[in-house]
This record gives sequence, structure tokens and C-alpha cells, in this order.
Amino acid sequence: MKGIVLAGGSGSRLYPLTRTIVKQLLPIYDKPMIYYPLSVLMLAGIREVLIISTPRDISRFEDLLGDGSQWGMRFEYAVQDEPKGIAQALTIGEDFLTGSSVALILGDNVLYGHGLTEVLTRARRRVEEDGRAVIFGYYVKDPSAYGVVVLDDDMRPQRIVEKPKEAISHWAVVGLYLYPSDAPEVASQIRPSARGELEISDVNQVYLERGLLDVELLGRGYAWLDTGTFESLLEAGKFIEVIERRQGLKIACPEEIAFLKGFIDGKQLRRLAEPLMKSRYGKYLLDVLEEAER
Ligand code: G1P
Repeated sequence: MKGIVLAGGSGSRLYPLTRTIVKQLLPIYDKPMIYYPLSVLMLAGIREVLIISTPRDISRFEDLLGDGSQWGMRFEYAVQDEPKGIAQALTIGEDFLTGSSVALILGDNVLYGHGLTEVLTRARRRVEEDGRAVIFGYYVKDPSAYGVVVLDDDMRPQRIVEKPKEAISHWAVVGLYLYPSDAPEVASQIRPSARGELEISDVNQVYLERGLLDVELLGRGYAWLDTGTFESLLEAGKFIEVIERRQGLKIACPEEIAFLKGFIDGKQLRRLAEPLMKSRYGKYLLDVLEEAER
């Protein structure tokens, strides 16, 4: 399975923060936003990732993340010329995917919770071994800003609706989608919605109608945080700060994940940490290494 991070959009709701900085590079407490979704892919064991952004911003991501080899990863980059919808990421990614299954994640989605790695691993297996598509549902009070999934009494998906006007379900669809290898083909067949976008909800609806869609519900022990407004951006940062300070452990530190997953060895982690020793981040990386060697 390969990964795609979609980090496009105009960030208009966060203007003027986003006037010269793309939203997905804004800070969530102590890291650029894109570290959080990227870490989710890494926790799922995915090592090849395509990062898609706007013509204006793609070089910023390349500056930040490079070719990925420093973390034992492989990154490629592609441009989405206009914000034509999330589903377009799958067709843009077709050449990169070369027939592989895919985990598509939105560059502004923050996911946190105990057991996430196991949930991801299980979902990944269902896609790779059984050819199913897996999406994730999260209970929210006001689902009107999201895609939602309507469930039957057995919690099986009945319908996917993008930005419902009426509260037909409280289960919002998280911006993380796992698909089998035909995803680019499915995405190429859907038509733009009333708001002129190729909706990922329509891709999910196709898999649902084929009887191939599984919905994994993330329960109360998870945090799925929004970053689309000033308030929610600040709250997400506060959330990360509270947990990191209490535990002294970082959330979504790609160097640490790469090391713990065995993508890089201790020598490489030290190499990454040493130039950063004036920062708390660098010291943390060294702590991770020392803890492992103890
Ligand atoms: C998008 C999707 C929506 C999903 C949401 C998750 O919404 O269209 O289905 O629930 O991301 O963040 P957008 O950010 O485009 O409003």
C-alpha cells in the first residue's frame, strides 16, 4: 500500500495566516500540520508517499520533507492545478500508485488515540487481502461540515452524503480513506458535484454500492481534530500541548516513528538529532535513542 497526502486548497477561511503560508504548514503546537497526517501513514507502515499541493506551495513541502530518505521513506510530489476536489488526488496519483492500493489522507487532519496503529493495520489488511475499501467514522455533534455515513441498526453503511443539510447521521467521515488498486479508475468516473468538486464521498458511495465499503468507527477514546478555523487550529495545538507536556512524549514525531518502526537505525536517528541540539526537538530525538539503548 502506498500513501497520498493531499495538502492543497486556498486556506481562505484562515486568511491572513494563509496569505503566504499554506495551511498544512501552519503550526500545531510544535510541528508543522502535515507531520500529523504523515505520521498516521507511517504508523500504518506505509513508506512511499505522494504529496499533492498547489503550484504555489508544492516547493515548500519539498523543502520541508525532501525525498524522504532521511526517515527511511520515499516521497514524491505532484501538483493539483485547481482545487477540484479530494477525489482528484486519486487520478493525479495514478502514475505514482502503479496499481498499488492506497491510503489517502488530508493534510489538515489530526488523528490521535490509543490503538490507532492496530486499527490502521487491520484496515490495511482488509484492503490488501480482501480488496475492500475502508473509511473511518467519528461521532460529532454537528456533522454538517463533513461527509457523513448513514448506518443501519447493525452499524453497516447505508449511504454517504457530503455536507448534509439535515442531521441524518452524527457519524462524520474522517479524512483518511483506504482503497484497493482500482481507486484511480473509480475516481475518474465520478462527475463534479453541485459545488463543482469531485467529491470523495461519491467515490465512497461507489464502493458502498458495490458492497465493498467497510466503515471503521473510531470511538470515544479517539481525537479527530479540526483545523479549519482560528479557534479549532488553536484548540488542536492546545490538545497536543497538554498531552505532550504531561507525558514528555511527542505526538506525530516522524523521526521517532521511523526509528521505532525500523525504517531507520539508531545511527541515522543520531545523525538527524545532532544538528538540532539547540532545539528541544533535537534533544527529544536523542532522548528517544538513549531510551531505546538503555
Ligand atoms: C472534506 C470531505 C468530507 C470529510 C472532510 C474531513 O471536507 O469532503 O467528506 O468529512 O474533508 O476533514 P472539506 O474539507 O473539503 O470541507
